[in-house]
Amino acid sequence: MTVTKTTNIHQIDGTEEQIKAINGLSQEFDVTTERLRTITDQFVKEMRRGLDHDGATVAMIPSYVSGRPTGDEVGRYLALDLGGTNLRVCEFDLKGKGDCSVKQQKFVISDELKTGDMRDLCDYIADSVDTFLTEHCSKPGPNEEMLQLGYTFSFPVLQTAINRGVLKQWTKGFSSTNAVGKDVALLLQESFKKRYLPVNVAAIVNDTVGTLMAYAYCYPETAMGVILGTGTNASYYEKTANIKKWSEQENPAGTDEMVVNMEWGAFDCERQVLPLTMYDNKVNRQSRNLHQQLFEKMISGMYLGEIVRHAMINLIDQYLLFNGESSPILNKQWGFETAYLTAIEKDKTENLDETKEILEETIGIPSTTLADRQMVKKMGEFVGRRAARLSACGMGGVMMQDDKIGQECIIAIDGSLFEFYPNFEGLLREALGELFGEEAANKVRFALARDGSGLGAAIIAMMAHKQQQQQQQQ
Ligand code: BGC
Repeated sequence: MTVTKTTNIHQIDGTEEQIKAINGLSQEFDVTTERLRTITDQFVKEMRRGLDHDGATVAMIPSYVSGRPTGDEVGRYLALDLGGTNLRVCEFDLKGKGDCSVKQQKFVISDELKTGDMRDLCDYIADSVDTFLTEHCSKPGPNEEMLQLGYTFSFPVLQTAINRGVLKQWTKGFSSTNAVGKDVALLLQESFKKRYLPVNVAAIVNDTVGTLMAYAYCYPETAMGVILGTGTNASYYEKTANIKKWSEQENPAGTDEMVVNMEWGAFDCERQVLPLTMYDNKVNRQSRNLHQQLFEKMISGMYLGEIVRHAMINLIDQYLLFNGESSPILNKQWGFETAYLTAIEKDKTENLDETKEILEETIGIPSTTLADRQMVKKMGEFVGRRAARLSACGMGGVMMQDDKIGQECIIAIDGSLFEFYPNFEGLLREALGELFGEEAANKVRFALARDGSGLGAAIIAMMAHKQQQQQQQQ
């Protein structure tokens, strides 16, 4: 009788069953070149639908930001950044020639604030701005002009003007009440007013739009702003003629191009092309926004650790990992952070010592073998690679729509996943190479635009303020 041995392509020092399990997971999380193409084509279709009519899955929201910064913008502007892990309050001093200095302070947003009443959240933001101004800047006197603020609000907001827009839905674990359907700029302005704070919300800015503008401040040819952090999304310049859902009244300035906030996290909520696994379905089912943001849930930092946690539990239950033993931390939702995956992926020691420390000391697994640690490392690698390949489909879709294939193209990216996950950029390029050929992929420059959205929001506040002054003079 011949015994067939399972091929150990992933070099695990484990049993035959463990090798089989890892091979299986490798396949489940794989996105083949053919699938990359299908997803990218579908992306272009969904983008066009979003440009054509309201209510499409990928919302394609006009941002009311139409010009490109020249780098010569000057002045002092405030920026707020809400939407990731913290609230950031900044004051930018734009000095021209792409130069600026910044003062900033971070404030923690508690889970209570994320899930409580929106008025409390706005009051907290206004108090934070007050603290920041008192500690770091000077407030204008009664006869002086108000401070102008760019409000980076990183959620799907259906904008009706540069400083107006209603929240479509919450994402990334926020679920404050009395917010959906309301104008988020007005709500914040109200809280400023109650405190007699001389601050005007001059613009609401999505973080992708801020990132795009911040990078364009130094490199005007930047084509796209992408966030690969707690959540994920992208924006790019679209020809206004292609925004079919827009009537002339909505584009009174009659500009030729406009930055569109895609809200790509919502891509394929109909589940037509995304290669969802049972672990993705578990993450989705237990999330605060069931059946929404499925693309985001396969890609962004908030969810990758959680996907791996489900995959680990599944193997533990089959006695294929940690000798069948879990821990109270690992059993809890969000118990395994994406930051651990990044650290494990970086662990190059022979015995995976760093991985051992995370699993045993931080997570509380009683004991782990080398095979256990190798398996966890592999799972992180599969999930990270899949995230990069799926994001490449989104970027590829924009490149197709924007006629950028084969051309020099700068994509400004911010977010912990892009900044810290080992070789994320290499994986993105590899996938773009499979889609469009190596030569075309090598023409793309992925640029880290760290904390770019704050600077972008300040620049947009400046542009909005200038426009308003001009209109008043006319
Ligand atoms: C939001 C987007 C945002 C992205 C990145 C998503 O959850 O819907 O508006 O740009 O996260 O922060």
